[in-house]
Amino acid sequence: MIDQYCVIGNPIAHSKSPEIHPVFAAQTGQHLSYVRCLAPLDGFAATVRDLVAQGYKGANVTVPFKIEAVKVATRLTERAQAAGAVNTLSFVDGEIVGDNTDGPGLVADIVRNAGVALAGKRILLLGAGGAARGIMLPFLMERPASILVANRTVATAEALVANFAGQGIEVAACGFADITGPYDIVVNATSSSLAAEMPPVPASAFATGTLAVDIMYGNEPSPFMRFAAEHGADTRDGLGMLVEQAAEAFTIWRGVRPATVEVFNKLRTKK
Ligand code: ATR
Repeated sequence: MIDQYCVIGNPIAHSKSPEIHPVFAAQTGQHLSYVRCLAPLDGFAATVRDLVAQGYKGANVTVPFKIEAVKVATRLTERAQAAGAVNTLSFVDGEIVGDNTDGPGLVADIVRNAGVALAGKRILLLGAGGAARGIMLPFLMERPASILVANRTVATAEALVANFAGQGIEVAACGFADITGPYDIVVNATSSSLAAEMPPVPASAFATGTLAVDIMYGNEPSPFMRFAAEHGADTRDGLGMLVEQAAEAFTIWRGVRPATVEVFNKLRTKK
């Protein structure tokens, strides 16, 4: 039987993952199927158990189940534990292993695709929710000079930073009004772009040479990306991160790393 995978979410129709994994499979000569799986809002755990019973080999997890997936996993990787969220499940040897490839996907997009190293850089991370939390450990592992976490609710940023102190890298928290800059890399990990808003980040955060990345993606640049570009930054949206987190999940499942450029270009040109 062909190895089966899926992406579980609610809603799920919009997910691009079924457009990504089959291309990776064709490219690497792997035989697998990858489908969308709509789980009831109160039925995520039952859905996972059902997939395991059907012989599925793994699943991606998307909104709104990434936090619940932590509890459903019988084993967590260090980065899933640090993220407090799971986006990749592997069903192996009777275990449900939870991993999180979102942060590593962002790192891969910045380092490999944008060609910008994180080592020694001053980083400004906007937002302190689930997405920001998933980014912290993968960023720290790249040994930047510092990470400043700025959030509308400062206490949330302070609580986030407290979890990642003591790794020999300067990490600090502040409100948007306290940001001064410029920074080498600015990541918008708030959900502001979903509402076509932008976090109130000052222009002083950006300079020529700053890389500004919005983890959201769409057909148009987000207000954050437009503002950053107006103040000299190079900008990227989250499409590269999306494709790279999928490549990381594929690598975990299949033990072979796919090339990402083909899928990225296909998704970019498809409106
Ligand atoms: P996610 O899983 O996408 O991270 P989340 O955990 O709900 O979602 O976190 C959303 C983040 O976006 C938070 O940091 C939130 O700020 P608060 O903690 O102050 O609520 C931030 N956010 C959402 N909309 C925003 C906006 N318009 N401006 C600034 N920050 C915003």
